[in-house]
Amino acid sequence: MRPNHQSRLYIYTVSAIAAVAGLLFGFDTGIISGALLFIEKDFVVSTEMKELIVSSVLFGAMFGSLASGRLTDQFGRRRLMLIISALFIAGTLIASFAAQVYSILFGRLFIGFAIGIGSYTAPLYIAEVSPHELRGGLVSLNQLAITIGILCSFLINYAFTNIDGSWRWMFGIGLVPAVLLSIGMVFLPESPRWLVKQNMIDKATMTLQHLRNTKDVSHEIHEIQNSLKVRQASFREIFAPWILPVLFLGAMLGFIQQVTGINTIIYYAPTIFQLAGFPDASSSILATVGIGVVNVLATIFAVCYLDKLGRRPLLLTGLVGMCLSLLGLSLAFQTGADASMLRWIAIGCTFFYIICFAFSLGAILWLVVSEIFPLEVRATAMGVAVFSCWLWNFAVSSTFLTLLNALGPSATFLLYAVMCIFSFAFCYCKVPETKGVTLEQIEDNIRKRMPLRYIGQPVFDKTAITESPEYQAD
Ligand code: BGC
Repeated sequence: MRPNHQSRLYIYTVSAIAAVAGLLFGFDTGIISGALLFIEKDFVVSTEMKELIVSSVLFGAMFGSLASGRLTDQFGRRRLMLIISALFIAGTLIASFAAQVYSILFGRLFIGFAIGIGSYTAPLYIAEVSPHELRGGLVSLNQLAITIGILCSFLINYAFTNIDGSWRWMFGIGLVPAVLLSIGMVFLPESPRWLVKQNMIDKATMTLQHLRNTKDVSHEIHEIQNSLKVRQASFREIFAPWILPVLFLGAMLGFIQQVTGINTIIYYAPTIFQLAGFPDASSSILATVGIGVVNVLATIFAVCYLDKLGRRPLLLTGLVGMCLSLLGLSLAFQTGADASMLRWIAIGCTFFYIICFAFSLGAILWLVVSEIFPLEVRATAMGVAVFSCWLWNFAVSSTFLTLLNALGPSATFLLYAVMCIFSFAFCYCKVPETKGVTLEQIEDNIRKRMPLRYIGQPVFDKTAITESPEYQAD
């Protein structure tokens, strides 16, 4: 049954509140580039310490994402979101009032841990409360919130540039969304799936009736019960032969989202703009705000169209666009285009790259990893995929400047372009279309050991699949 107007409104509100975790993710990862400039005015910090301050959030996030599977099962999705909002508040207070640089490090580690758990729990929670017709757009609200958080951090970096002790304010503003998240989560329902898993069927039924605004939810409860009949797998069992392919797909998507270079632009755009000849720091930072704006706009497009156009067409088109923009950047730096020309090519290519990332890999990674894992292993397997994303984020962000120095900008961007070509080939062969199918159907297809590319098929039509050219090549 299609969700009615009232139920849609409620679901959108629930998802938007949960997505504030994404806003904190974007804000706290984006704010450091600006804050760092002022921290070094107040404290003596070595280059290594600066790198540590930047990467402490990514470190924390890696561990947070690893712990998430167990924690969401143990505490429930909603209670865990409440816990992470407390972690965000604590980490932000520690970092903003830091008397020594080590306290900043410690506070940022805390925040990172919360980001890691939030980057896992928010999309999972949203996917579990959404009706399947709206799932793509709703889960992508989380990515939209990430991009809004990044934009806010760029704007705040720009606004606080000339204020004493600005870094404390830059960090401190993160308290606002953290407090909003904690208040909002108090009023949200627990995930019906988690309730069924805890055998709280009456509560799950009531929650679902409220979410769907209808009394008739027995079919959905039954579907969840069926998918839960299977015993919960242990960590080792996520490596079972029938699950291994989807686990590999999730980890690869995390890898691809990062090695195609997104955070070289998000974290280092001002550096790239200065390399391309922007005259001063403030014009580079302003151009970076532009990046934040197009990132949000293209993500809004993804939220509206993912459930209509499907995941695969957007993903593949986006990767082609990202590759072309990186090739453009590489070529421009290689040919040494004259200064004003290079500036415009850099702006054009980075903006186009961000647009293509935002409507493809940006939104689709978080969506697909919340969809593809069977319930039995969803918690742990999704943790592995999210961990892979943070691990590669850390690897790329901490090597970008070294690569720039060692290879120069042209070869560095060429390298990311090559990664886009590889990623296109992988996604073309392996990524399934999951538009409009229930999570239970996807799980059923995985159990039937369908090739990865086909696990999003609504009906299992083996003949049609085995005769297709992709299957022959699989
Ligand atoms: C990625 C982040 C990135 C952001 C940019 C997210 O999906 O995981 O690493 O900074 O998109 O919008």
